Amino acid sequence: KMDVKLQEAKDSIRDIVDFPKEGIVFKDITTMLKDEKHLNTLVESLYEQYKDKGITKIVGLESRGFILGTVLAYKLGAGFVPVRKPGKLPAPTYSEKYSLEYGEDEMFIHQDALNSEDVILLHDDLLATGGTAKASINLISKFNVKNVFVNFLVELDFLNGREKLDTDYQVDSLFHF
Ligand code: PRP
Ligand code: ADE
Ligand code: MG
Repeated sequence: KMDVKLQEAKDSIRDIVDFPKEGIVFKDITTMLKDEKHLNTLVESLYEQYKDKGITKIVGLESRGFILGTVLAYKLGAGFVPVRKPGKLPAPTYSEKYSLEYGEDEMFIHQDALNSEDVILLHDDLLATGGTAKASINLISKFNVKNVFVNFLVELDFLNGREKLDTDYQVDSLFHF
């Protein structure tokens, strides 16, 4: 059973119908993040979950994965690596194209971002169809890191994104809808 504080945080996520396209029910986490109690609950809960995993770097996905990704990196005493959208990273990159619930895009990572000593926590705010996360897992797999954990604040179970990830890595989401 979910702790009361986490349940309250979950309940503060707002649904926006037909955004950004007709037929999409958008999970708006801004109503959760703006509340200092909820922000504290999220960070403390994720910290407890990952503090003993030997995480050396958080890989955060632009843009919403940057929000708690950097906070977690700081709390865990780890570094932060951005996975970014086109035209943003200045040095040589690896890239992966993908489709997501409401469009298509491409993600990039710097070729010197990770190394064989790293234990990675890949973080994003939300798992929908899994396109974004799968592309990012593919990017991480270009490096020969020690281990990878995957974390989302929210998982939309009915879209079966978890199957698309098709990974042996441990995948956890704080909230399920
Ligand atoms: C949203 C969300 C995830 C992704 C999930 O990002 O933050 O990254 O979609 O969708 P998927 O599982 O179907 O791939 P978006 O590309 O809208 O941009 P943002 O994070 O920059 O707001
Ligand atoms: N990213 C992809 N699908 C989404 C949804 N339904 N709500 C919020 N972010 C999303
Ligand atoms: Mg995103």
